[in-house]
Amino acid sequence: MKKFYIISGLAVFVTAFTMCHKAGVFADSGYDDRMSGGAATVLDASSKAFGNRVDGLSARDESVHITGDATFSQTFVAPPSPIFTGLGPVYNNISCVNCHRNDAEGIPTAGFSNSGLLCRLSLPGQDSLGGPLAIPGFGTQLQDQAVIGASPEANVVITYTDLPVTYPDGTTVTLRSPSYTLKNPYTPLPGNYLLSPRLAPPLVGMGLLENIPEATILSFVDAGDANGDGITGKANYVYDSYTKRKELGRFGLKANTPTLLTQVAAAYQQDMGVTSYVNPEESALGQPQMSVIHGDTQPELADSLLNYVVYYVKTLAVPARRNVKDTVNLRGAALFNQVNCSGCHRPTIQTGVDLTLGPISNQRIHPYTDLLVHDMGEGLADNRPDYLATGSEWRTAPLWGIGLLSIANGTSYYLHDGRARTIEEAILWHGGEAANARQKFMQLGSSDRAALLQFLSSL
Ligand code: HEC
Ligand code: HEC
Repeated sequence: MKKFYIISGLAVFVTAFTMCHKAGVFADSGYDDRMSGGAATVLDASSKAFGNRVDGLSARDESVHITGDATFSQTFVAPPSPIFTGLGPVYNNISCVNCHRNDAEGIPTAGFSNSGLLCRLSLPGQDSLGGPLAIPGFGTQLQDQAVIGASPEANVVITYTDLPVTYPDGTTVTLRSPSYTLKNPYTPLPGNYLLSPRLAPPLVGMGLLENIPEATILSFVDAGDANGDGITGKANYVYDSYTKRKELGRFGLKANTPTLLTQVAAAYQQDMGVTSYVNPEESALGQPQMSVIHGDTQPELADSLLNYVVYYVKTLAVPARRNVKDTVNLRGAALFNQVNCSGCHRPTIQTGVDLTLGPISNQRIHPYTDLLVHDMGEGLADNRPDYLATGSEWRTAPLWGIGLLSIANGTSYYLHDGRARTIEEAILWHGGEAANARQKFMQLGSSDRAALLQFLSSL
């Protein structure tokens, strides 16, 4: 913990220099709309595009990022191993990178080492903090893997059925509609459980999203739909396990986590079974805890390592847009606004001032999200509330970098559970507050639809 603040303190001096330096670049050359992440943008369209650090870190901060990167890729093992220990007793995967492949998204399978899908679980109702109601013996997340001597909480079985959708012009696209069942629970599972499958999302620009002022996000809410576009949006307020307060949710697919610190600590605890100073309790509820068996009461993860991984994620750069002057892309961008995709996927936002980290401070960014949750209709509903987000509400997915996902990840899947295999399929799943936008998209001619899709591929 202490180390983290010392590093941040040092960064202030570096930042003063970096900010002047970057400001100069933009003043001279005018605004450059390739710069999706402002000064935190990187010109890289390769398979490593999602794994770059922001420019302008001090040598010291760079080394923190690099150690965080190594820890992010580190495989954890079960106790009593002396290093990178604490995996399990139950978990979903053995490293961050196994789910967030190349800092991008995982694969929507279950039960395999490369599976980036996990299932949140709960009972109907709310706990005393307004969050999902834990299932005795299971908690609020299903861990489908276990170390030797423990049992997976249950196995997840995913099946897909075809769902054809036909455009007014006669073109048909076949969506795949998923269904999830749990098999072999280690202890009886109540029949009325609620299940929310979620695929690991890309991690670019996380520090920028954390640095958007709360007032900016709240200004996007249109609770009474004053402008009559059918889009309202809602801020999710969630319990922060570190500050012990309700905070605005920004991370997670229902904006169910307030900060990168709590997100990363929860990933160690829930996804890997590794405890830390933020989350000192094991996630396993009904099974023996290895660290307790071995008489160790310290958190399994060193404080410094948790902070380094948080810093790593916070300082991941956003890849620059490609072909921004291409006439088809320009037409696609106009159509994106015309059919009001931009009503949720906000093209431009200004980040707040952060004196400790110049590249994310006061930047004009293009995240294509409002960080609000929206009702997306029955088709996408998981029917599992998460704090204020209802069973049909999801956080607007940021679209920056989306055109590079297939290159960065090897394969590309879209939407909260990876059901969509193409960007077009993802759009066709939109409903609820996005029903108007979907309908207007479907009514476009095929060359306009292609232009809009080509624009999205340039992000
Ligand atoms: C089992 C797969 C899995 C593992 C392992 C995993 N994640 Fe994730 N990650 C996810 C999923 C799924 C989400 C979305 C969670 C939600 O909606 O609540 C997520 C969300 C995130 C987010 C927020 C992204 C956003 O857009 O809001 C960050 C940051 C993150 N993970 C970092 C990490 C780090 C760091 C580690 C390692 C300590 C890690 N993750 C391990 C699957 C995984
Ligand atoms: C009412 C708000 C809203 C509108 C309007 C909207 N979207 Fe979305 N979009 C979302 C939300 C929320 C998600 C995440 C849904 C999920 O994961 O189930 C999303 C997801 C996506 C994704 C998948 C991103 C990923 O990484 O998985 C794409 C692509 C997308 N939207 C494009 C569009 C386009 C193009 C339009 C206009 C035709 C549009 N959206 C209109 C809210 C909206």
